[in-house]
Amino acid sequence: MQSEPLVSLAVPDDIPGLLEIERASFSDPWTEAMMRAQVEGEGRLMTLARVGMAVAGYAGLMYVLDEGYISNIAVLPEFRRRGIASALIGDMLGRAKELGLSFLTLEVRESNAPARALYSASGFSDVGIRRGYYENPRGNAVLMTRFIK
Ligand code: COA
Repeated sequence: MQSEPLVSLAVPDDIPGLLEIERASFSDPWTEAMMRAQVEGEGRLMTLARVGMAVAGYAGLMYVLDEGYISNIAVLPEFRRRGIASALIGDMLGRAKELGLSFLTLEVRESNAPARALYSASGFSDVGIRRGYYENPRGNAVLMTRFIK
């Protein structure tokens, strides 16, 4: 089996696979309409990582002017801790540079230690807290940013 993830842009046919990852990863998953908007919407793009035939993970970017926002990132549980999310973020940083973005920002649950560790390892820094930002379950968001040179 091929072990290196291959990252590419998602297309509408990928939406069922993306929803499967979404539902396996979040207590309050995106609906199909939200996923479709991320794949097809203006000022948005979705990338996915394939390992062999499997769609193992995805990352979403929203951008306006020179500001980028990572809207979502997830990897199927059986593919975690193999560098797939790191590869998705690396690819996203390249796309952000091509788009002329100055920085990427994101929100992450304060209690989500794996994701916070991932973003710190990818050069993001904590820049603020949004109290009570999440529901189901209720929790704070940490705001993280990485500037793009
Ligand atoms: N515990 C501690 N650190 C972790 C971690 C964990 N469970 N998972 C990732 N990290 C950190 C480590 O520093 C890791 O490097 P290392 O393996 O060399 O130690 C680094 O992040 C890169 O990990 P990587 O293998 O690229 O991450 P992943 O492919 O396993 O995906 C998530 C990480 C967070 C996307 C994945 O756990 C996931 O899908 N979680 C559920 C969805 C979610 O919370 N998304 C984030 C929303 S903001």
